Amino acid sequence: MSEKNIDTDLTELISKLKSKYEENSQDFKAYLEGLLYQDFTSYWDYIQVDTLLSLQKPKTKLKDESIFIMYHQITELYFKLCLHEFEQLAELKGKLKADFFAMRVKRINAYFRNLTNSFEIMVDGMEKEQFLKFRMSLLPASGFQSAQYRMIEICSANFLRLVDKDHRGKFSEQSNIEEMFEFIYWKAGATEIETGKKTLTLTQFEAKYAPALIKLANDCRDCNLWALYKGLPEAEKQNVELITQLKKLDQNVNVNWPLIHYKSAVRYLQKHPSDVAATGGTNWQKYLPPRFQVRVFFPELWNAEELSEWGKSAFLD
Ligand code: HEM
Repeated sequence: MSEKNIDTDLTELISKLKSKYEENSQDFKAYLEGLLYQDFTSYWDYIQVDTLLSLQKPKTKLKDESIFIMYHQITELYFKLCLHEFEQLAELKGKLKADFFAMRVKRINAYFRNLTNSFEIMVDGMEKEQFLKFRMSLLPASGFQSAQYRMIEICSANFLRLVDKDHRGKFSEQSNIEEMFEFIYWKAGATEIETGKKTLTLTQFEAKYAPALIKLANDCRDCNLWALYKGLPEAEKQNVELITQLKKLDQNVNVNWPLIHYKSAVRYLQKHPSDVAATGGTNWQKYLPPRFQVRVFFPELWNAEELSEWGKSAFLD
C-alpha cells in the first residue's frame, strides 16, 4: 500500500470516528487526546489472569483438594460457554435457519465432549485417601448444587421432560411450571436415605436458585432447543445435521457425561462392606446411573429400542 493510500485510509477512518463521536455529542478531540495516555492492553489484564488464579481457596492443606476445585471451576466455565450458545439461539426464535441452529448445537456438543473426555482428571487424578479426607470438610456442598447444569437442561428440553418419570403422567407440556417444579427429577435424588426428608444440599440449593430456575423455565417455554426445533418450517426440520447434533446433545448431557461422572463416584465412594455416604447424603447408586432415570431431552428423535437401552452404555462419537 502506498503512503498516499495510507493517508486516504487514515483520513477516512478519522472522519468515520468523528461522526461516531459527534452523533453522541461527544468531543472527538478529547477522546483522541485520551488515546495518548491510555495504556496498551495486556494479556493479563484482558483475561483477568490474576483474578482467575486467585479463585482457588482450599479448605484443607491436602494438595489434591486444589485439583478438585479447579476442575469444578473449569467445568462451570464450560457450562457457561454452553449457556452462551443457548442464549443466542433463543434470541433468534422465529428467525432461525436449520444450518445455523446445527452449527451452534455442535459447539455445545464440543464443550460437553471435552468435559466427558477430561473427566479422568477426577476419576484417576486425585489420591483417594486425600479425597476421602478433604470431602469431609466440604459437607454438605455437592456438584448437585450446580445451577448452570440445571440451566442447561432447562434450556434444552420441554420442562415436562425434566419431571420425574413416575410423576410425568400427571402433567402436559402446557402445565404450570411451578407445579411441575415440585416434581422435578432431581428432588427424588436428594432425599435422605434414612428419613426420606429433603437433604440440606437440596434445601440450600432451592433457597438460592428455585425462583431463578422457575423464571428461566417460564422464559424458555417457547425457546428451549426443542421448542425452537418444533418452530422451524417443515423442510428445515428434516435437516440431517441438525437432527444429528440434537441427538448428540441428548447423548452427551444425559448419558456420556453422567456415566463418566458416576465412575468417579464409584471410584471414591464405593467401598466395602458399606458404601461411603455421598456428600449430599443421597442414594447416589440409585440416582446417578443414567439407566435408572432415563433422562431424555428429545424422545421423538429416538426409536423404541434406543430408548429401552438408554444409559446402559456410553454413546461413541
Ligand atoms: C471425585 C469427583 C466427584 C465425585 C466423587 C462426585 C460425586 C457426586 C455424587 C455422589 C453426587 C450425588 C449428589 C450428592 O449426594 O452429592 C453428585 C452429583 C453431581 N455432581 Fe458430582 N462428583 C464429582 C465431581 C463432579 C464434578 C467435577 C462436577 C462438575 C460440576 C460434578 C457435578 C455434579 C452434578 C451436576 C451433580 C448432579 C447430577 C444429577 O443430578 O444427575 N461432580 N456428584
